[in-house]
Amino acid sequence: MSAMPSPRPVPERDVLLRVVVDGDLELFFEHQADPIACGVAGFESRARDAFFAHWAKVRANPDGLVRAVLAGDELVGNVVSWGPEDERLVGYWIGREHWNRSIATRALAAFLAIETRRPLFAHVARANVASQRVLAKCGFVEQRGEASAEELVYRLDGPHEPARATDALAVGR
Ligand SMILES: CC(C)(COP(=O)(O)OP(=O)(O)OC[C@H]1O[C@@H](n2cnc3c(N)ncnc32)[C@H](O)[C@@H]1OP(=O)(O)O)[C@@H](O)C(=O)NCCC(=O)NCCS
Repeated sequence: MSAMPSPRPVPERDVLLRVVVDGDLELFFEHQADPIACGVAGFESRARDAFFAHWAKVRANPDGLVRAVLAGDELVGNVVSWGPEDERLVGYWIGREHWNRSIATRALAAFLAIETRRPLFAHVARANVASQRVLAKCGFVEQRGEASAEELVYRLDGPHEPARATDALAVGR
């Protein structure tokens, strides 16, 4: 029996960021309700009301930077940063049907061209090897002294990735 072919990477030019609109939230809700994704991410999914209340806060936060991720013209996930100077965090989520196609790596690289504050941190479940790879590919470095039993801490100090055409659709903050 032949092995399943690997999913093909989405070309860099096809991974786009844009501002989040109300109609995106239903899919983001489904993504974070996926028990397999939650298991890998070490994330407890929110019930519908809590999810929409949380995203209302995320989008209203004047210090937050929030982007939807598109692969071509398809909505596939989001990237978010928040928190005070010197403790700023980044997070991202891609729908499981799109995993392992380089989308998160390309989306985070594009996001780092518009989120230029440093340092930038990410907390990652130990089992979440895919996310650790994404962070490493984007220049984040594991902070060995800051790990806990459950998660690793990654930090980015360096300059952002070269600006790409991927934020062309982004407007506003
Ligand atoms: C983590 C996540 C964003 C990755 O998205 P993605 O689009 O699949 O990521 P990419 O395709 O850009 O990169 C994934 C990398 O991990 C590797 N990978 C995936 N599963 C792996 C595993 N079990 N062991 C080792 N490497 C693995 C892939 O091969 C790829 O690396 P490569 O490019 O060197 O081959 C996605 O799985 C997700 O949204 N998960 C749920 C939410 C989450 O975990 N968010 C992050 C919280 S910190």
